[in-house]
Amino acid sequence: MRRPIIAGNWKMNKLPSEARGFAREMVKLLSDIQERDILLCPPYVSLPCVVNACRGSNIKVGAQNIYFEKEGAFTGEVSADMLKEIGVEYVIIGHSERREYFKEDDEMVNKKLKRAISVGLIPIFCIGEKEEEREKGMKKDVVYQQLVKGLSGIELENMVIAYEPVWAIGTGKTATPEDAEEMHLFIRETLGKIYNEELAEFVRIQYGGSVRSDNIDSLMAQLDIDGTLVGGASLNIDSFVRIVRFVYSRNIGLRKNM
Ligand code: PGA
Repeated sequence: MRRPIIAGNWKMNKLPSEARGFAREMVKLLSDIQERDILLCPPYVSLPCVVNACRGSNIKVGAQNIYFEKEGAFTGEVSADMLKEIGVEYVIIGHSERREYFKEDDEMVNKKLKRAISVGLIPIFCIGEKEEEREKGMKKDVVYQQLVKGLSGIELENMVIAYEPVWAIGTGKTATPEDAEEMHLFIRETLGKIYNEELAEFVRIQYGGSVRSDNIDSLMAQLDIDGTLVGGASLNIDSFVRIVRFVYSRNIGLRKNM
């Protein structure tokens, strides 16, 4: 029912010349994959060559950020329209590194989501609690607030949500599949309350945070995990290919397709 979506967030890695070769290799190695969305999210300067390399294939391309204004005197920023014109289809918004290092708050994230949607880019809206918030028992409050504020005034259609507990990003500490599932279910229930349950059932929720080739299958076996946003492990051809080729555990897989 919910089509799995596996995305590689390259962050600030790979030169454009490396990006092109990597994308071409992905196109070759993953051409048989059906019924799953595959997404590469390189840095801005590599977007044109990755879009070119993926043209006509089953691999889509996403950006890692946009600015929320349409155009104007905003030195160093890139607009949603610019990305749309070169063939980018998705954009990651509100990643914890943007929130932490570039001081993006929920209000700015909300504006960016609105801008992306207005030009037809599909946002991957990132949320997740920090370690100290989890330790204080606040993980659900934090995620609830991020959802309510980030989605204020927004129609939910065609949006992907990425649950990325900050303590799991780039640390090698993955949430256990059960832990992640608990939060995914909470997110879906919250979406059900903000919008309605029927709509919430259609929203794809990715897990992110130290996803690797050796934990992907157990994560994807969870009922409310519809894909993954992969950082470090998406930079290596073998590991990203294995992640895209995750194997559903049989029973859960059947339930997922009901
Ligand atoms: P990681 O990053 O897989 O390297 O933990 C995930 C992310 O930040 O999206």
